[in-house]
Amino acid sequence: MQAAWTALENLPTRTLKELFASSNRLDLLSHRLEWDGGGITFDWSKTHLDEALLEGFEKLAEAADFEAHRQALLTGEVVNVTEGRAATHTAQRGVGAEADVEEAQALHHRMRALVEAINGGAMGEVKHCIHIGIGGSALGPAMALRALAWDVAMVDCHVVSNIDGVALEAAMEACDPATTIVAVASKTFTTTETMTNAASAIKWLRDGGVSDPHGRVVALTASPEKAVEFGVDETRVLPFPESVGGRYSLWSSIGFPVALAVGYEEFAAMLAGARAMDEHFRDADGRANLPLRAAFADQYYTRLRGCQTRACFAYDERLALLPDYLQQLEMESNGKAVTAGGEPVNGATAPITWGGVGTDAQHAVFQLLHQGTNLVPVDFIASIEAGDELDEAHHRTLLMNCFAQGAALMAGQQSDDPARSYPGDRPSATMLCDDLDAATVGALIAFHEHRTFANAVLMGINPFDQFGVELGKAIAKSLDNGDAEFDPSTAALMQAAGLG
Ligand code: F6P
Repeated sequence: MQAAWTALENLPTRTLKELFASSNRLDLLSHRLEWDGGGITFDWSKTHLDEALLEGFEKLAEAADFEAHRQALLTGEVVNVTEGRAATHTAQRGVGAEADVEEAQALHHRMRALVEAINGGAMGEVKHCIHIGIGGSALGPAMALRALAWDVAMVDCHVVSNIDGVALEAAMEACDPATTIVAVASKTFTTTETMTNAASAIKWLRDGGVSDPHGRVVALTASPEKAVEFGVDETRVLPFPESVGGRYSLWSSIGFPVALAVGYEEFAAMLAGARAMDEHFRDADGRANLPLRAAFADQYYTRLRGCQTRACFAYDERLALLPDYLQQLEMESNGKAVTAGGEPVNGATAPITWGGVGTDAQHAVFQLLHQGTNLVPVDFIASIEAGDELDEAHHRTLLMNCFAQGAALMAGQQSDDPARSYPGDRPSATMLCDDLDAATVGALIAFHEHRTFANAVLMGINPFDQFGVELGKAIAKSLDNGDAEFDPSTAALMQAAGLG
């Protein structure tokens, strides 16, 4: 792999202006992916990728044995080597080893039956659902609910993650215990935040007059026995396989509130959109593979241009939570310093993912993108079809602004006044969706999952473990138990808070 990196490092750096002047950028770098009823146009022409870089990165992918890694992922082999597990999230969408796909279908069938039973009145009148989970057990449902249930929801769903009681109290304020069910989402069913919030939610149901509060709880978990121990009846436990990672679990029973809010058919449409992306990822090779192509751009900016962050701006209010979701997906997966084999990675790994929604972000953070000293590769995401029914000026202006920002970042503008000069040559990619329906949301998320995986393969990283989060958890426990000595700063803070 080092030879492929050295060849890439030795390629000349050309400006976007020069690149546009010397070749047909759209033929080389703009692509459409279509499925039955929808599609997305991916445009990387405003990045610095050119024929030589694409060839160089294809050689890197060969040297990294990308095809073998992809096959291992999609056929249910052990890819999470540090934990000895497969990563079977694509099987949830129908792409994977036969046994994994069959298991996923059976579990989806069970979930569908429960969703339809609840909609049919089996748990009495259900107007609200408080979904309690954290990290991968919350960010996916919250993001998908915002995208698909922002206007109408069959059940009004609130996602609560933080241990800070303010979060749960806000959800309780908006709900009536008599018509609320609680979904406890935790792969392990041991996470402190989730179990504490679940206990408080059950107390709230009881205090609110519900005689059998545990009877109003649905558990979404890969540890069904723990959910039963917690007091949830087996008929309301929706399991998912251990081999589905937390940040890849939206497709499993963790997506329960989405199905409850928009109906199981819509949830299934989201799975189908993700499957279209899986099939593309499985079948397309080299630069034609869109998630791999995105990883080429990511690696170029992070490893060869030293970019420490990458930003994603959705010009769509419905995708307001996408940057939060991508932060966990990308930073928890690839924010590592050693390879799958335990060797130090030779270079920078995951950049910091950040972002927001357009046009709001233009009036807040885009100053730095245009004139700051950091080079930040930007992704723009937008939908041709409007989400609103107001005057078309809204959506037209939204899209114009999105396209204007990409053009301005690239072109820049010279002025005699340095304060009014824009250097330009700043890269962006655009994902233009035909419409932002459930299938498109599924395809977009699956695209980012595979992009994250492709980046990991090019760096030699295992993207499926997350040991970095454990130390802080252990120290919080020790502080709570008072069973260890801490540094003077931490001890003083404990004392000041009345906890020492
Ligand atoms: O602490 C990190 C983490 O393990 C995430 O990877 C995971 O999504 C989250 O905590 C929640 O874990 P669980 O679903 O087991 O409650």
